[in-house]
Amino acid sequence: MSNDPYTLAGEAAAALRAAAGLESFDVALVMGSGWVPAADALGETVSEIPFTDLPGFSAPAVAGHGGKLRVVRTGAGRHALVFLGRSHLYEGRVVDSVVHGVRTAAAAGVRTVILTNAAGGLRPETQQVGDPVLISDHINMTGANPITGTTFIDLTEVYSKRLRALVREIDPAIAEGVYVAFRGPTYETPAEIRMLRTLGGDLIGMSTVLEAIAAREAGLEVLGLSLVTNPAAGLAGDPLDHEEVLQVGRATAARMGVLLAKVVDRL
Ligand code: HPA
Repeated sequence: MSNDPYTLAGEAAAALRAAAGLESFDVALVMGSGWVPAADALGETVSEIPFTDLPGFSAPAVAGHGGKLRVVRTGAGRHALVFLGRSHLYEGRVVDSVVHGVRTAAAAGVRTVILTNAAGGLRPETQQVGDPVLISDHINMTGANPITGTTFIDLTEVYSKRLRALVREIDPAIAEGVYVAFRGPTYETPAEIRMLRTLGGDLIGMSTVLEAIAAREAGLEVLGLSLVTNPAAGLAGDPLDHEEVLQVGRATAARMGVLLAKVVDRL
């Protein structure tokens, strides 16, 4: 296995092609917590490969993150790479591990990546628990970046306007918002949440931004979708709980699955 993260992604892509018996793939979806149950709506499962069979991957530590890569043939006959689970900085992973799935997908020929996550809502005045929100932009407060060196990537449009317009054609009622990422694993304090509201954030979570940056570096088109699973800390009074996040995912799986399947078939 290579020490260079880009070479390692190439090795993982070669192992994936061999395991799936396919030369190329059209789209990748990263299923965040709460989104894994929605994966079943995407199409027919061609194969499932445990992450641990692919160079550079490790099994995710979090409940609700499945830990395998599913290859799906969609209704329109496209091949989707569905990551049932992802790695996070808070698991003690280095940033190259966190973005390895996206780099592997790019090396396997994918041109579009759909990043999903569960998020706390920073605007409970207008957001409902269980609603999907299109990510329009992000604020990276993880302190990390997947790119090292003098590669000054433009991030003016991380989340593709074209793909957002496509989702709005399918679901005209869907809201857009700015996703803020903290490293976690603690949830935020109410003071941090007040700060993030002032800074222009609409959603708070612990993933997605690093993968989105790596995807842009690889030239992929990115669609980001959050599922609002709770009002952010201090906005509703209740303590936050990971089980609540998973529960909202189970309750909305059918709706999110239909949305994703429609998006994938119209890419
Ligand atoms: N904060 C951070 N991450 C989250 C939250 C939250 O409130 N809800 C789901 N993921």
